[in-house]
Amino acid sequence: MLDKAGRKLSSLTFGPQGASLRGRLRVPGDKSISHRSLLLGALASGTSRITGLSAGLDVQATRRAVASFGATVERGANDGEWAVTGGKLAEPDDVIDVGNSGTAIRLMVGWAAAIDALTVLKGDRSIARRPMGRVVEPIRSMGASLDGRGNGSLPPLVVRGGHLHGIDYELPVPSAQVKGAILLAGVSAEGETTVRERHPTRVHTEEMLPLWGGRVRLGEGSVTVVPGPLSPCDFDVPGDPSQAAFWIVAACITPGSDLTVQNIYLGAQRAGFLAVLERMGANVEVAGFDDRRGVGDVRARFGPLVATQVGGAEIPGLIDEIPVLAVAAAFAEGATVFSDAGELRHKESDRVESTVGALRTLGVSAEGKPDGLVVEGNAGASLKGGIIDSEGDHRVAMSMAVASLRSVSPVTIDAWESVATSYPGFEEDFAICTSKRTS
Ligand code: S3P
Repeated sequence: MLDKAGRKLSSLTFGPQGASLRGRLRVPGDKSISHRSLLLGALASGTSRITGLSAGLDVQATRRAVASFGATVERGANDGEWAVTGGKLAEPDDVIDVGNSGTAIRLMVGWAAAIDALTVLKGDRSIARRPMGRVVEPIRSMGASLDGRGNGSLPPLVVRGGHLHGIDYELPVPSAQVKGAILLAGVSAEGETTVRERHPTRVHTEEMLPLWGGRVRLGEGSVTVVPGPLSPCDFDVPGDPSQAAFWIVAACITPGSDLTVQNIYLGAQRAGFLAVLERMGANVEVAGFDDRRGVGDVRARFGPLVATQVGGAEIPGLIDEIPVLAVAAAFAEGATVFSDAGELRHKESDRVESTVGALRTLGVSAEGKPDGLVVEGNAGASLKGGIIDSEGDHRVAMSMAVASLRSVSPVTIDAWESVATSYPGFEEDFAICTSKRTS
């Protein structure tokens, strides 16, 4: 199978299944937190020791990027252990390639803008169509010179960084990537920088900055960074809730399942998918929650599900989990409506179209809307299997692997290689949970 550019694509076949999910599992380190730990480590003078770093290609791209600016990044003795020595950053010799990572390119627009250097940021074909105006505009207003295709609205982007001044900025689109970029730029700006948001988004940048010695003030719907030098930090990246969501939904829809996913980050704006599953009547419970780190275990058991409405202010806190929640919706009695989620159309694929297309291939009745999708669920449904085009979108590919657990025929997922961007060990974890092998 070849993509439109003639490159060979891999496909993977799951099932038919029949196995329940049982036992305990740990998922990879959180992707959002991993990117930020590298960027903060590179800004700090001295060595930050990071454990639990995501091994996905997206985070590898950020790791290579900070090294291109002169940070020293060394692997530790165990998987996920890295030492980042930063402080003295200089102009990279070459273009920075972020691969498939929207988080890497957007955070780096702000991060690189504070460095007196010329930075060119590019990515793959999916990155080339992702909107950048939302981050370019505020960083320009801090005094950096930025350009890109379409007057800076699309990558590749060119950043001429240097002397920045603080701004007071209200996000027009709820986006933690944009908030993070502005705050990272604000660390080295002259004067304070405030970001205001109408709908709360994930809080990793403001939560992590103080751990690296940054000064942050939280207000009602706002966060202010006070500029100043950063100092190194020893930091353990908790498990990724977006990856845990695949196994939690898998256990909820697969008869006989009783699975615990351990050590997951469940802080603000990342556990919204659990609230949705609870509204659907799912048997999910959090145990051992550590309030200080925002980390806990989630136990999920099979049970009957009912449809729900998902929309409004809860969307930014579960946007990445919508494809797998749509799979849960396929087995929930009634019509589940996802609305106010137009941002889905600007992810690694147009996730409204890719999710609806994949579900329909498997025999689920689903319909795309300008701002979301509707899934007609049937609690007793068995899917018919088929060949799915994941459109190179890791979350769609993994969601359909979850759907295969309720299929009577094999589910083949094309462009499976995208899964390595966030979850290189997905197949192994699938086998561990189900004690079944893929082919
Ligand atoms: C992320 C923020 C979200 C999310 C993305 C990771 C982050 O994107 O979808 O996967 O790490 O800040 P937006 O900033 O576009 O909302």
